[in-house]
Amino acid sequence: MTEVTDGVLHTLFHSEQGGHEQVVLCQDRASGLKAVIAIHSTALGPALGGTRFHPYATEAEAVADALNLARGMSYKNAMAGLGHGGGKAVIIGDPEKIKSEELLLAYGRFVASLGGRYVTACDVGTYVADMDVVARECRWTTGRSPHNGGAGDSSVLTSFGVFQGMRASAQHLWGDPTLRGRTVGIAGVGKVGRHLVEHLLADGAEVVVTDVREDAVRALLEKHPTVRVAADAGELVRTPGLDVYAPCALGGALDDATVAALTATVVCGAANNQLAHPGVEKDLADRGILYAPDYVVNAGGVIQVADELLGFDFDRARAKAAKIFDTTLELFARAKADGIPPAAAADRIAEQRMAESRLSRSVTAVA
Ligand SMILES: NC(=O)c1ccc[n+]([C@@H]2O[C@H](COP(=O)([O-])OP(=O)(O)OC[C@H]3O[C@@H](n4cnc5c(N)ncnc54)[C@H](O)[C@@H]3O)[C@@H](O)[C@H]2O)c1
Repeated sequence: MTEVTDGVLHTLFHSEQGGHEQVVLCQDRASGLKAVIAIHSTALGPALGGTRFHPYATEAEAVADALNLARGMSYKNAMAGLGHGGGKAVIIGDPEKIKSEELLLAYGRFVASLGGRYVTACDVGTYVADMDVVARECRWTTGRSPHNGGAGDSSVLTSFGVFQGMRASAQHLWGDPTLRGRTVGIAGVGKVGRHLVEHLLADGAEVVVTDVREDAVRALLEKHPTVRVAADAGELVRTPGLDVYAPCALGGALDDATVAALTATVVCGAANNQLAHPGVEKDLADRGILYAPDYVVNAGGVIQVADELLGFDFDRARAKAAKIFDTTLELFARAKADGIPPAAAADRIAEQRMAESRLSRSVTAVA
């Protein structure tokens, strides 16, 4: 058979970024639904990951995003110690224009047709109220609202987990698991960033923030007047005496210019896909900057929605998210022992966990 040499099929079957178990294209013309559900791995259990609703420029871009995000969820779920593999779905289109009850119900029927191989939740462009609708057609839905038996806003445990990652970074670097007396810069004080400010102030840290939305900064200052403000992320990363930089806005925050300008010695934040390109993790290590991998420290949200599948118990979920402290510390130790950056060590551990699980399943099948 002739191998395809480019495009989605090439990525899926032949490239390093591929290797997904299953990709499902869904269409419901009546409601305008066009969706891609990508299951990267079920080695550790049913694939779990959110639904992104986004006006992609091209359909190929949507498929590529679904593949990429699903793969990321396999690594995140493996490092969080969850009994879940990685999957993600994207719905193509502007949610402001095409999102409707009919469309979400049609989407729920497609997810249900996978019989539990993929469990869906919120992501950019979808909210707890949307998951309430999807759940009417699909029992493999999580991230619902509390009055529908759900866990609600996942940013509460996401920020708690990032704070645990920061405490572990402080322990590793300064021998004390506290941010007391340290200066922490947060780029993005949305749902996660503003909760993170509260953890840090309670711990005795000094906090500097920036956000493109003036109203977000104003609301934060009304509540916490001691917080300082930087004009933008460029100014924030250059703040004299900054100890920790926490990207909590968009992906790609750690590009070459940012890494070169950073005054902080730790990077630990909630944003997904912080490394702008492969190799940035090494540049950070070469500059003596400790990078707490994004998908390890921001797993509190997925821990929360995974717990919802058991009947949500906030204290149990919080206790699981607290383990991000130990996971991050162990990861730094492994990176040091193997002589590789923490991001590479995290990938290695996650891949090992998936491989071991696949192996034990095939041994059980043979027995
Ligand atoms: N919410 C969760 O549970 C969760 C879980 C895992 C990862 N994350 C990731 O964490 C990040 C933050 O999530 P959130 O839920 O707080 O999102 P959010 O949209 O509530 O907040 C993001 C904030 O960043 C600001 N922002 C955007 N561009 C900026 C820029 N260039 N400079 C400074 N500020 C900027 C926005 O104005 C907004 O206030 C995202 O990358 C998200 O994917 C969130």
